[in-house]
Parts: sequence; C-alpha cells; structure tokens
Amino acid sequence: MLKGSKVGLRARHEDDIPILRTELYDDVVNGSRAEGGPWRPITPGSKDPRLVVDDTNQGSVPFSVVELEGGTLVGTATLWGIDNHNRSAHIGLGLRPSARGKGYGTDVVAVLCHYGFVVRGLQRLQIETLADNTAMLRSAERNGFVREGVLRSSAWVLGEFLDEVLLGLLVQDWKPGARP
Ligand SMILES: CC(C)(COP(=O)(O)OP(=O)(O)OC[C@H]1O[C@@H](n2cnc3c(N)ncnc32)[C@H](O)[C@@H]1OP(=O)(O)O)[C@@H](O)C(=O)NCCC(=O)NCCS
Repeated sequence: MLKGSKVGLRARHEDDIPILRTELYDDVVNGSRAEGGPWRPITPGSKDPRLVVDDTNQGSVPFSVVELEGGTLVGTATLWGIDNHNRSAHIGLGLRPSARGKGYGTDVVAVLCHYGFVVRGLQRLQIETLADNTAMLRSAERNGFVREGVLRSSAWVLGEFLDEVLLGLLVQDWKPGARP
C-alpha cells in the first residue's frame, strides 16, 4: 500500500465495488461532472472498468483510497493515460461524499505524485478538471500543479457547456511534503 499522511492507496477489493457504484457512479451529478461523457447506470455485477480492475491494462493504474486510521474505504484514485515514451500521465480521483473536505483529496494527489514520479519515473503529470471545481483545483495547486490553460466550453455537463482547467506538474518542480 502507498501511504500519505491521512490516506492509503491500495488495490481494489471486491467489497469496495458496491460502495463505489452506489456513492460515486450512481450519482448523476457527480458522474456527469467527472466522466467527460453522458451518465448512464452501471449494472450490478458488470465488469465496468471504473469498478473492476483489468490488471493487464498497462496504461492505467486504479487504486482504492482508504483512511490510514481504521482502513475505511473513502474513494478511488487513478494514474491513467500512462505514456512511457513521453514519460507522462494523468491523475484522477473521486471521494465518497462523507470523505470530502477533510484534506484527503490533497493527500491523494500527493500520493499519486509519489507513485508517478518516484515509482514510475515519469516527468510530467496532468490533471483536467471543471473550472468551478474549487476543491480539485486547490488539491492540485497545494501539491505544486500550475494552471497551464483553460479549455473554453469544452465540457457538456447537464445542459450547459463548462470550461475545463488543465494543470500540470513537472518532476523538477515537485516538492514532496511541501504544501503551500
Ligand atoms: C475534488 C475532491 C477529490 C477534493 O478532495 P477533498 O478531500 O474534498 O479536498 P480537500 O479537503 O483536500 O480540500 C482541498 C482544498 O479545497 C478546499 N475545498 C474543499 N471542499 C471545498 C468546497 N466544496 N468548496 C470550496 N473549496 C473547497 C479546501 O478548503 C482546501 O483548500 P485549502 O487547501 O486552501 O485549505 C473531492 O471533493 C471529490 O471527490 N469531489 C467529487 C468528485 C470530483 O470532483 N472529482 C474530481 C474530478 S476531476
């Protein structure tokens, strides 16, 4: 397990799946904002890759996020779009509603940076998020990500076009443990 100061990132367990499906992916607003596509329900027992991990997919590493104290499941985190030629990848995360606003998101980004830069030897990490997602923007910026651009009206979300912000962090600018 990868450990931050508050959370751990471990493999997906069978027991995690119904909780994540109910609390993250059955939520139409959360799903529509996070997926970059139209929400649709996930059938219980389906092999949807957001829930059931395909260990042969080299381009993506999904984790379940747990509280270090007690081990309670609090969400998901993924290093995806891994490009071993350009040594870059994207990160994504989603926390259960009861786990938001406690500093876990910031800690998850820190752990994903460690995994990307130290374990995988990458040199660039990227995050795309909706421009009104203050908690995600702050979680990224707290870890040194900088805003590199705004993709104007790039996301169709529940009846309107929203801007997305693209953030990037290069390994030489990464300061492990520093939280401005
Ligand atoms: C986005 C998300 C991962 C952030 O994680 P989090 O644990 O809630 O965030 P943190 O508690 O670490 O807070 C980070 C910062 O955002 C601020 N913040 C948290 N929730 C906020 C809110 N609802 N509105 C405004 N600011 C907020 C915190 O005060 C903190 O700011 P600071 O660093 O200046 O003190 C989490 O809220 C989440 O899963 N949301 C739903 C799914 C989602 O949006 N995923 C990202 C898709 S790209």
